[in-house]
Amino acid sequence: MRNITLFIFVAILFVLSACQQNKIRYHIGVSQCSDDEWRQKMNKEIEREAVFYDGVNIDFLTSKDDNAKQSEDIEYFIDKGVDLLIVSPNEAEAIAPAVEKAVKKGIPVIMVDRKISSDNYTAYLGADNYEIGKTAGEYIITRLNGKGNIVEIKGLSGSTPAIERHKGLMDVLANAPDIRVIASVKGDWQQENATDKMDSLLKLYPEIDLVFAQNDRMASGAYNAAKKLGRASDIAFVGVDALPGNNYGLHQVQNGELDATFIYPTGGDKVLQTAMNVLTKQPYEKETFLPTALIAKTNARLMQLQADEINSQDQKLERLNSQIDEFWSRYSAQTSFLYVSIICLVLFACLLFIIIRAYWTKNRLNLELSSQKQQLEEQRDQLITLSKQLEEATQSKLVFFTNISHDFRTPLTLIADPVEQLLENDGLSPKQEGLLKVVHKNVNILLRLVNEILDFRKYENGKLELQLKNCDLKEAVGSWSQAFQSLALKKHIHFNVGIADGNYHLLIDENKIERIFFNLLSNAFKFTPENGDISVDLSILTKESEGILLMKVADNGKGMSAEQIQKIFDRFYQTDVNHAGSGIGLALVKALVDLQGGTIEVESQKDKGTLFSISIPVVF
Ligand code: FRU
Repeated sequence: MRNITLFIFVAILFVLSACQQNKIRYHIGVSQCSDDEWRQKMNKEIEREAVFYDGVNIDFLTSKDDNAKQSEDIEYFIDKGVDLLIVSPNEAEAIAPAVEKAVKKGIPVIMVDRKISSDNYTAYLGADNYEIGKTAGEYIITRLNGKGNIVEIKGLSGSTPAIERHKGLMDVLANAPDIRVIASVKGDWQQENATDKMDSLLKLYPEIDLVFAQNDRMASGAYNAAKKLGRASDIAFVGVDALPGNNYGLHQVQNGELDATFIYPTGGDKVLQTAMNVLTKQPYEKETFLPTALIAKTNARLMQLQADEINSQDQKLERLNSQIDEFWSRYSAQTSFLYVSIICLVLFACLLFIIIRAYWTKNRLNLELSSQKQQLEEQRDQLITLSKQLEEATQSKLVFFTNISHDFRTPLTLIADPVEQLLENDGLSPKQEGLLKVVHKNVNILLRLVNEILDFRKYENGKLELQLKNCDLKEAVGSWSQAFQSLALKKHIHFNVGIADGNYHLLIDENKIERIFFNLLSNAFKFTPENGDISVDLSILTKESEGILLMKVADNGKGMSAEQIQKIFDRFYQTDVNHAGSGIGLALVKALVDLQGGTIEVESQKDKGTLFSISIPVVF
């Protein structure tokens, strides 16, 4: 049974492991500083690229331009025990401590798009923002033919792209003395901020030829402000990002809202590739600069078409991916089903084996049992035969014994009669008379014994009959008691006969009651020592013409054990080897009581005495 349980346990583990074939091996945390279309595009690219790697789980958090929140996000990922962090820091100084903490804990950190104020990170991916600033400056010089007033709207001042783009721009414009930067304001990468700032600048400066915003969102905000004041057509708006999609950079260049923009690649796919190289200990570049390009009216449409094409390919890829997921889950379900079926089959086989084994065992046990039963039956038959033989032997001994007793009775009677006649002779000397009395007494004892044996045998053979006749039991008991007086005197026994008041003229078998009386008293005298007490109590319970005769014979002699009491009514049982007799007396008493429909009870205690209680139904 233990083996089967173990097997089931292992099988379940096996099925579970089969169901978990694509278990997570790498946890990656992405901490984005903002939540806008550019970052959503990057996140999507990261997710899509992850599909090509096994067991990669990515969690995204955005701090919505809040330094404190981003530090918390990074701490959260550290505590969660991610295997790698991808961070696009809101501001370089503020986020550096959290990133350094992660690196210190041994978590590789990949910086994307923006940097922190230290070199303590694993790798960087993003465009060269200084280069973007420079290229924008060169475009502006060409666009304005080397002369004009420009406004710069910058991103968040602590973020590295804002710093680097500004520097690149300024370095180039230093070579174009007729291009005047009439204002350089902060827009913090937000459209609304740019609108507000532009609104004020438009009021201050009547001649603005070009606005360079560090991203398309802010360029669009500035455009809106100018449009509101009817000056949009006088000013060229240049941005950065060139995102595809409705109302984003590419579209805005096409519809003339923006004069130009620069591709600022999101590069999510490359970011994840680098992350996986780091995690799988493959070689990777510490700094990867993604390419950028100018988008103007001439190439915007082409770029849009390309972007649309890429987008549709991406969608196909996504569909394919979800189909693979579906197939995979179907395959897993089928595999699990197969394993479960195999387990069930094996379990069924085990069960079958157990049942068959139990059946065999049962059959074997049945065979053993029936052979044992047969042996027992044979033994029982042998015992029956033996006991029959024993019974037959006993019976033949009893028959023999009875016959002998019978044979003894006639000669004994023949001795008793002449002895009685001789005793009636007056001419006997005292010595002769004494000797004859001894003979007479012993012949009578022998006759009584022989008669008892013969009566008991008659009872056993169902031939002993009651001889009912009217008699006065009170008188009879009085005279029977007389016979024991001399013995009582001789043994100094206090012999007392008590007869309660009542009608003792009964229709009874006097002879049989006498036998009972004599036997019980003989026993009492036999087992009561000198100076002992023996009593006979006779009473009668009367109810109309019927009654119950109660006779109690008690002594304070040597008594009997519980074991002896159980056997005293068995024929030939002798309680005491020192007082050997025929062993028939009490068996005969019981037989005589039974014959008269009565009961006999005995109470006795070793060395305290014995009480026989007899009750016999009688009629008056
Ligand atoms: C997106 C964004 C872009 C910009 C970049 C600079 O959050 O504001 O528009 O080019 O970040 O890090």
